[in-house]
Amino acid sequence: MGKIMIVGCGGVGSVAVHKCCQNSDAFSEVVIASRTLSKCDALKEKLQGTTKTKITTAQVDADDTAVLTELIRKEKPDAVLNLALPYQDLLIMEACLAAGVHYIDTANYEPEDTAKFEYKWQWEYRERFEKAGLTALLGSGFDPGVTGVFSAYALKHYFDEINYIDILDCNAGDNGYPFATNFNPEINIREVSANGSYWEDGHWVETKPMEIKRTYNFPEIGKRDMYLLHHEEIESLALNIPGIKRIRFFMTFSESYLTHLKCLENVGMTSIEPVTYKGQEIIPLQFLKTLLPDPASLGPRTKGKTNIGCIFIGKKDGKEKKLYIYNTCDHQECYKEVGSQAVAYTTGVPAMIGAMLVMNGTWRKPGVFNVEEFDPDPFMDALNKWGLPWKISENPDLVD
Ligand SMILES: NC(=O)c1ccc[n+]([C@@H]2O[C@H](COP(=O)([O-])OP(=O)(O)OC[C@H]3O[C@@H](n4cnc5c(N)ncnc54)[C@H](OP(=O)(O)O)[C@@H]3O)[C@@H](O)[C@H]2O)c1
Repeated sequence: MGKIMIVGCGGVGSVAVHKCCQNSDAFSEVVIASRTLSKCDALKEKLQGTTKTKITTAQVDADDTAVLTELIRKEKPDAVLNLALPYQDLLIMEACLAAGVHYIDTANYEPEDTAKFEYKWQWEYRERFEKAGLTALLGSGFDPGVTGVFSAYALKHYFDEINYIDILDCNAGDNGYPFATNFNPEINIREVSANGSYWEDGHWVETKPMEIKRTYNFPEIGKRDMYLLHHEEIESLALNIPGIKRIRFFMTFSESYLTHLKCLENVGMTSIEPVTYKGQEIIPLQFLKTLLPDPASLGPRTKGKTNIGCIFIGKKDGKEKKLYIYNTCDHQECYKEVGSQAVAYTTGVPAMIGAMLVMNGTWRKPGVFNVEEFDPDPFMDALNKWGLPWKISENPDLVD
């Protein structure tokens, strides 16, 4: 039994709050703290009376570490689950250190003025969390998150050595809009318009955006085009999986999405460089975000499934072995259960599970850790229990 403070009440935050409320044995109390109080209050209104978990709300701007620290000190949660934006990661980690509570997030820090996410900033907090006797669990979403847990599980139970990992993220959902992003549009567009990269033989290989395309026949979905992207778990898995030779990440995109994105890029709408409009400085990508559908509103419209998983190639008892671990998730089923589409669901569920394991001590040690550094078994069991059951195929199609 514990008390959690969830910072950020958007698409992912809403799912995490629902799942904590379903899991009242682990979460006796939830504080929903976000920039817009009305969103927190609306969620509280919807859920109280349906759960034994006590729900309270608070307005907070996490960009102000002193204010957030004060709120954490007042509320005294056992842990803070950061579901705001990657820009706030370091500030929220600072507040957790100051107030003496554990920290969990789902996306690594990215400075607002440079579209480049990497772990180095958060890994620099290792010594401070160690000395404070606190745990910071980084990247406990689906990718990063479950993909790292799948990797640790494959290594523990199926391989002596993993040499190749291909992470495949397929969203075959259709929301009916010609162009909409399934999570925060600013973060999403920054991610997909950046150069791609993969890890091979001890170094990064950089590609142009969307330069590498493959087609894959996804179980329960069918054939989809997918493109190589840079993704944050590549950085930590390259360090934490011994014997690794190559890690790639692929995500599916429809023709329509890519055509719109190219056009928006060509006219400068995805830029993060400020421009002056009628005497006011605006950032084109932030303006674009105000025009696009709110991802939290896509739930009722989105139909179809997601399939996210990892293909592993390595060795067991001297023989080459391959394995595919994946989850499929149905957008409409998620909407029925928690009022959100599957992209928010597949992130919010592992965020709740990571927080639960840190809070009940199963995944607790002083320092800053990525998910694959802990025993994967309790997390894998919890995925089956809390709505993201996984499957294993021992003879998958490979990506060339
Ligand atoms: N690992 C994964 O698999 C994965 C997948 C998808 C997303 N993510 C991550 O999950 C996080 C949440 O994504 P989302 O789609 O839920 O985004 P979202 O819908 O935009 O929600 C973000 C929430 O954070 C709040 N917020 C933003 N800045 C804040 C601040 N300074 N102080 C307090 N609250 C603040 C927003 O408040 P307002 O309501 O006022 O705007 C909003 O409620 C992001 O970091 C994203 O990168 C991870």
